[in-house]
Amino acid sequence: MIILIVGGSGGIGRALVNRYASEQPEAQIYATYRTSRPDTTPQNVQWFHLDVSQEDNVRALAAQLPKVDVLINATGLLHTPDKLPEKSIQEFDPDFFNDNLKANTLPTLLLAKHFAKALKAKRPTYFVALSARIGSISDNQLGGWISYRSAKAALNMALKTISIEWRYKLPNCCVLAFHPGTTDTALSVPFQKNVPPGKLFSADFVAQSLTDLIQSKQASDSGGFYSYDGSAITW
Ligand SMILES: NC(=O)c1ccc[n+]([C@@H]2O[C@H](COP(=O)([O-])OP(=O)(O)OC[C@H]3O[C@@H](n4cnc5c(N)ncnc54)[C@H](OP(=O)(O)O)[C@@H]3O)[C@@H](O)[C@H]2O)c1
Repeated sequence: MIILIVGGSGGIGRALVNRYASEQPEAQIYATYRTSRPDTTPQNVQWFHLDVSQEDNVRALAAQLPKVDVLINATGLLHTPDKLPEKSIQEFDPDFFNDNLKANTLPTLLLAKHFAKALKAKRPTYFVALSARIGSISDNQLGGWISYRSAKAALNMALKTISIEWRYKLPNCCVLAFHPGTTDTALSVPFQKNVPPGKLFSADFVAQSLTDLIQSKQASDSGGFYSYDGSAITW
């Protein structure tokens, strides 16, 4: 089993790396980091430097990994050092919007383009991206956070479109969007005080939910959007 965790140094990404490394000691695990490579790492994990928004970086990594069984993109962005998500359209800023698309939408498209060959196999394979319920158009009751919402909605559309194209081209690949719930990582820190008791999950819990979900799904489930509790989310 060959597993690639893109964004393996992020909060959820790191927990996924550790979970797979302990659950599947015989697996070869590849993980990527952008800013800093974690100091301690399980034995069966090999790290690569990757800026996943740069196509030449993604192409070069794909050239090194000709076969992948499970690819999870755990990268993303909600806020920057000087910008929080918008409360109203008056706060909309084109640069922040573009940052959101670049971090939350573009990487999955590049990964699908360059890893399609590695994921094409007679055995089951998985292409999974961390999305967010907030990217569901039908579930949107609150408004706000317009750049992140739009970027995750675009990610969802991209995943659905890829799943349809791959139904014939990669018939054994299952393409999934995953909502982790509010998870205790750097990404959610500015918003954690509003989370109801019991609804702030540890990254380890979320990693287990996702690995369990992947194990329970097959190619016929491709094109689905699932929550941490295994329930389907409407687009
Ligand atoms: N945490 C939550 O409550 C929550 C809720 C819903 C959805 N999600 C989604 O879950 C995913 C993981 O989030 P998280 O909570 O683990 O956040 P996190 O701890 O902030 O990790 C995000 C990671 O993405 C990496 N990244 C961003 N742009 C990148 C790029 N161009 N190239 C390579 N790496 C890049 C960051 O790398 P650097 O360290 O180098 O910046 C960081 O390691 C995201 O897609 C997020 O939208 C999270």
